[in-house]
Amino acid sequence: MSKIINIAIDGPSGSGKSTLASAIAKHYGFIYIDTGALYRTVGLYIQRKGFASDDVENIVAALPHIDIDMRLEGGKGVVTLDGVPVSDEIRTPKSSMYASDVSKIPQVRAFLLDLQRDIAKRNSTVMDGRDIGTVILPDAQVKLFLVADDTVRAKRRYIELLEKGQSVTEEEVLADMRRRDKNDSGREIAPAVAAEDAILFDNSALSPEETFAKAKEIIDGVLA
Ligand code: DC
Repeated sequence: MSKIINIAIDGPSGSGKSTLASAIAKHYGFIYIDTGALYRTVGLYIQRKGFASDDVENIVAALPHIDIDMRLEGGKGVVTLDGVPVSDEIRTPKSSMYASDVSKIPQVRAFLLDLQRDIAKRNSTVMDGRDIGTVILPDAQVKLFLVADDTVRAKRRYIELLEKGQSVTEEEVLADMRRRDKNDSGREIAPAVAAEDAILFDNSALSPEETFAKAKEIIDGVLA
């Protein structure tokens, strides 16, 4: 079996992690794992149960009942809930806030830890998230921490949501993003910060293609 390689791509929402991570995974023939989808799915389950996103007691009590898994299909991890792939239902602004809120709960992070590590142990992956380089895969061969100005990130997310047919304003997206940034980077457990050995990469002024080209150069350099 060839050597397992893991590439960690962390950064705030809208920094272009998922676009970059899936392009890199495709290029190197690795599996793309979107770890945010796991937190979003836990959030969706909690939302469906009718619990508030800050109802820690009920959320923690619900964890053993959540049948969440990841199926490897077409070069990426597809999250399933009760054995059924989750839909774009996890991508609405409300689901984003739920995901961000539940991800602050240590028991939720512990609940999702082995699932992420097991996949990376058995497959070469490009994993995107907030704590991949710091907590989930501290030994990843390559760690990138993507950043971009929040107005640039909000604009990207706004266009993405419009393309999905959701009705939102750019101001709402920016406000949501700032709240989420604060939530994700200010929390006590596994905050979205760069690992000491991560390469900081600001792509505010770069297109997805330019971001990919620069990341590929970095990765080729590290893996050579
Ligand atoms: O990457 P995303 O925007 O889909 O992630 C949704 C939320 O999940 C995000 O606001 C924070 C949380 N998250 C996390 O805490 N750790 C990760 N590795 C990935 C996501």
